[in-house]
Amino acid sequence: MTEAKTETGAEPKIVIVVAVATNGVIGREGDLPWRLSTDLKRFKALTIGKPVVMGRKTWASLGRPLPGRANIVISRNRDFEAQGAEVVPSLEAALELARKHAAAVGAGEICIIGGGEIYRQSIAVADVLHVTEVQAEVDGDTRFPAIDPAVFERVFEEELPRGEKDSHAMHFVTWRRRETAE
Ligand SMILES: NC(=O)c1ccc[n+]([C@@H]2O[C@H](COP(=O)([O-])OP(=O)(O)OC[C@H]3O[C@@H](n4cnc5c(N)ncnc54)[C@H](OP(=O)(O)O)[C@@H]3O)[C@@H](O)[C@H]2O)c1
Repeated sequence: MTEAKTETGAEPKIVIVVAVATNGVIGREGDLPWRLSTDLKRFKALTIGKPVVMGRKTWASLGRPLPGRANIVISRNRDFEAQGAEVVPSLEAALELARKHAAAVGAGEICIIGGGEIYRQSIAVADVLHVTEVQAEVDGDTRFPAIDPAVFERVFEEELPRGEKDSHAMHFVTWRRRETAE
């Protein structure tokens, strides 16, 4: 089977985009437990023009497709329909479809945008993690898995003060999967 390639012929990178509190929380009762306008802008900049992959519950929390991006929703329910998105039955099927979309538009990345269940399954195949570290301990019911520093290397960090429309200060951190000897 031939894999879909981007314009340059390379496989698109699998990139996780997430905002995480200092205690690992990412969600509460199906929603985000904060208001971070600065992070929403960063999220848009990181994902625009790229296929985005998400779980059915995250899709429900968005309430509409993210514009300017192919929206791919994972659900075990074969009858589930999502207007403005494509529904697939597994993470593998989502990545396969996302590779086709990435090849069609020449995108070098596929973005995994949550939530907890999908992050837990996809961190094993992710090349890059764009993590917004929310500078607070927050109550919630959904968490991001621990990042293993033996697997991922912290390659970028930027501290941001709390803006007018942000409930908390943030650190933007990028982790890259370490090269392994073949
Ligand atoms: N802080 C952040 O950056 C961030 C980002 C995204 C989401 N969130 C938050 O995270 C929470 C949602 O996360 P969640 O863990 O509850 O749900 P989720 O990961 O968004 O979606 C879970 C659903 O995805 C489907 N699914 C998961 N694994 C599957 C597999 N292997 N094969 C087929 N389908 C599969 C199932 O859908 P069916 O039940 O339909 O089968 C499952 O119920 C919300 O609070 C949201 O606001 C936070």
